Amino acid sequence: MATVSQPFSGISPQELAAEFAAIDLTRPLATTEAALHELSQLWLRDAVWFHHPRYIAHLNCPITLPTLLAEQLLSAVNTSVDTWDQSAGATLIEQKVVDWTLNQIGLPQGSEGIFTSGGTQSNLMAMLLARDSRVAKQTPERLVKHHGLPAEASRWRIFTSALSHFSIQKSCALLGLGYEAVIPVDYDDDYKMDSAKLAQAMAKVRDEGLIPLAVVATAGTTDFGSIDSLTDIAELCHLHQVWFHVDAAYGCGLLTSTQHRHRLAGIELADSVTVDYHKSFFQSVSCGAFFVRDATHLRHVTVHADYLNPLSAKQEGTPNLVDKSLQTTRRFDALKMWLSLRIIGRESLGEAFDQVMALTVETHHRLVAYPQLEVLHAPELTTQVFRFHPTTELSATEVDDINQHIRKGLNRSGEAMIAATRVKGKQYLKFTLLNPTTSIDDIQQVIDALIYRGEALASHRLQSKQHAGAH
Ligand SMILES: Cc1ncc(COP(=O)(O)O)c(C=O)c1O
Repeated sequence: MATVSQPFSGISPQELAAEFAAIDLTRPLATTEAALHELSQLWLRDAVWFHHPRYIAHLNCPITLPTLLAEQLLSAVNTSVDTWDQSAGATLIEQKVVDWTLNQIGLPQGSEGIFTSGGTQSNLMAMLLARDSRVAKQTPERLVKHHGLPAEASRWRIFTSALSHFSIQKSCALLGLGYEAVIPVDYDDDYKMDSAKLAQAMAKVRDEGLIPLAVVATAGTTDFGSIDSLTDIAELCHLHQVWFHVDAAYGCGLLTSTQHRHRLAGIELADSVTVDYHKSFFQSVSCGAFFVRDATHLRHVTVHADYLNPLSAKQEGTPNLVDKSLQTTRRFDALKMWLSLRIIGRESLGEAFDQVMALTVETHHRLVAYPQLEVLHAPELTTQVFRFHPTTELSATEVDDINQHIRKGLNRSGEAMIAATRVKGKQYLKFTLLNPTTSIDDIQQVIDALIYRGEALASHRLQSKQHAGAH
């Protein structure tokens, strides 16, 4: 890894797939060395390296050394944190990291949490508890887990920013509510969910005889890193008596920040919170968690099995974490956070996040200085959405096309990995900075490379236009 010179080789799926054609998994190789040699050809040679300073594409981070140490230990022991009799101390370690995080969020006594595979599963749990706790309140004798959805389910609505993560839609589909249950709320000029429009949408839904079930605020949208106005939204939820979920899968890095923690103000008012340590706490994939203000809601995911976690164990006070989880066999990912906190400490994690925040501000200053670049926003976390737009002589489709080619060309060259997104129908480029070892010089190299490509593509287009015009 130390000798990797660029984040990717640039190989195409077709080129790499061709190398797999002759592999026969029914015939083992003669030695481990042979298997590793083969693996280095098939995987490592063309791996995408998140630790490389010019990997600035998606929400992936380089990892702390303690998380790597923890991975070795937890795999060797092969602990499963579903029941006490498969984990013992590991259960208590997870509980301690959960309690630490609840404390960082500011959730009160009586709150609880559980490690998950990541933000998607945490968001699913949030929507599940919002759904089942409403039914438990309305008709305690007809819980969803026993009787399925009630007749009013088709009238439930979930409100979330048009910029929130797609796992909210996916969760609603899985929970029998459908994509149609999700009302996308428009965002303001800072890419935050517009609280006034949210209030209007909730009132409108009520007027139509529908039922607001939950609001999902995003603390760190995937594209813009924008943080919805948590305090305003909490107030609205309180007024309408609906579940308030905060998806802080990305913004959770601010929990340990010494300089920017205030940007999460209001997160402590949530009914539930999603946290991804594998995004903003520099932990290896996967490492996420879900938190809920009132632990009793977790009973909606509890099923007692005689062979595993009988009710009697709970009555005796044996902690079986499976009672709180959607999974049964579950990785001991909490150890990674535990060792990170015990070896490098909370401050180091916060400083690393602050460092990438500062780098993003510097990056923003560099980007806005180029007249050929159109930058959409000032950074609130660590992303930048922008595009190459050198002249009005190019049509909207040509600009979109050029930006797509810039990204494809750059990623194909492997000298840098950047991301792309669409905003209001237009094509943009995106940087996601989560690597504290990336320097502003690395960023400058990427900017130079993308502008060089953009200029070449634009002048080619303009020349062909002139050529066509001359004929
Ligand atoms: C805001 C947000 N929420 C949830 C998720 C899903 O998280 P995961 O990929 O860990 O399932 C993402 C992933 O990028 C995200 O950006």
